[in-house]
Amino acid sequence: MSQKLIVGNWKMNGGAEFNATLLNALLSQSAQWQALVAVCVPSVYLGQVQHIVQGSAIALGAQDVSAHEAGAYTGEISAAMLKDFGTRYAIVGHSERRQYHGETDATVATKAQRALAAGITPIVCVGETLEEREAGRTEEVVKRQLAAVIHANGHCISEIVVAYEPVWAIGTGKTATPEMAQQVHAVLRAQLHAASEKADRVHILYGGSMNASNAQQLLAQPDIDGGLVGGAALKSADFLSIIAAAQ
Ligand code: PGA
Repeated sequence: MSQKLIVGNWKMNGGAEFNATLLNALLSQSAQWQALVAVCVPSVYLGQVQHIVQGSAIALGAQDVSAHEAGAYTGEISAAMLKDFGTRYAIVGHSERRQYHGETDATVATKAQRALAAGITPIVCVGETLEEREAGRTEEVVKRQLAAVIHANGHCISEIVVAYEPVWAIGTGKTATPEMAQQVHAVLRAQLHAASEKADRVHILYGGSMNASNAQQLLAQPDIDGGLVGGAALKSADFLSIIAAAQ
């Protein structure tokens, strides 16, 4: 992949003042970036962040999207609404949503469909738990998760982004070794290839405690096309180092 993609996942962090300070610090360095950069922000701040990043090198992303198109779904936000704010990416199937909000593979596949239909690139997260890894089930789990999305979106599967996020590495400071991550990325790449001849276009990101010191080695792997960064995306210096490692 010629150009890497670095995406910040702010999760439920930030605030109006914090967001502006962080984004302005990032933007002050953006002339040097070679990687594509995006931030996935809490939905209530989409308008604020859209205003700050408009016309800049930072693309706007959301952290979720409703599986429904419109209607009586209190609290939900549709893909069309995200699009109204210039949203370019939406994370779907993050393990925190699978775990705390009971999202199934089928829900995640529908969410990806809604995003694509609105012209938003879904960042489809897959990843195994520690228990699944220890039971030797990593490949089976990630392939099952991705298969659901391929099944529902086969015709436009080259338009998605995939993020491999081992659940045991998220927010724990434990990172998959570059070799461990590469192995799973290669499996996902092969699965995408079997579904589409344009699979080379798909960015496959690594996520799970990516930081300023491990980013370079992870990003040097042949099938790691970028990162989905949580904690380290909240500190401008750390996020900038990761972006610099992606040159
Ligand atoms: P982390 O989060 O970088 O804090 O581990 C990554 C993610 O959950 O997307």
